[in-house]
Amino acid sequence: MNITLSPTLSYTQNSQKTTAFTSNFRLNGTGQRPNFTYFYRGDLKWRSFAKYLHRHFADADKVNVYNAACSDGTEPFTLVMSLISKLGQKKAQKFFPIEAFDLNKYLVNEAKTGQIPLLPEPYTIVDILRLKLKNMFLEHKFLEYKKIRKIGDVVQINDKTRKHVKFDVGNVLTKVDEMKGENAVVMSRNMWMYLNEYEQEILAFKLGKKLKKDSVVVLGKYDIQSSKAVELLHKNGFEETYIDNVFEKMK
Ligand SMILES: C[S@@+](CC[C@H](N)C(=O)[O-])C[C@H]1O[C@@H](n2cnc3c(N)ncnc32)[C@H](O)[C@@H]1O
Repeated sequence: MNITLSPTLSYTQNSQKTTAFTSNFRLNGTGQRPNFTYFYRGDLKWRSFAKYLHRHFADADKVNVYNAACSDGTEPFTLVMSLISKLGQKKAQKFFPIEAFDLNKYLVNEAKTGQIPLLPEPYTIVDILRLKLKNMFLEHKFLEYKKIRKIGDVVQINDKTRKHVKFDVGNVLTKVDEMKGENAVVMSRNMWMYLNEYEQEILAFKLGKKLKKDSVVVLGKYDIQSSKAVELLHKNGFEETYIDNVFEKMK
């Protein structure tokens, strides 16, 4: 497959492309696509996933975890909390640092501060409850709640938790070239539908070439409903696992 791709594709250019999914999801006529995300987003069973990663990579000293389209950092911090809660600090260490990136530099800067806005009122309470319940009321190990004038309700991820994620601005279509293929986990959730069909094919092809046997790719609900991700992952050597939305490279 001969690939020509501009590594400088900007967020604005990318966000203005129309796909079947995004044409239905334009925000306030701005042409920008939503970066909507929330803690413990329910299209992944986080605790089962942490346990699965532990077992699946039992023989590996280091697991290379990438979070494509990390938005404001909510997703990689959810993964950090899930791994530490389920496995304990020591066993979770080989999955860190998580290398997270997003095309949107404003979101990445926000993520770097570790100061993450909760969902707007009245849904703030949903975020707070979700964080408390999932962490068995121990979430203060990872974060604290704050109200900040102008921004509103945020969680401040503490420094100890924050250092487990490295954030960068980047396009998944080129970032994939820098990934390590051995013992890799690529979270690419709720982002495939932002790519046009040709780009989806490129991404799946590159993942198939780059990732070695047993590496893992994770999709989100919208990727499954509104993109060709599943079909393309199959075509490039990945199969479903017993955890919904989690795929493994077969050879
Ligand atoms: C709906 S959010 C998903 C956030 C998170 N992954 C989740 O599932 O909750 C989609 C994100 O994809 C990012 N994005 C879109 N196209 C991208 C690309 N080509 N490379 C990296 N990020 C991209 C957007 O900037 C946005 O933050």
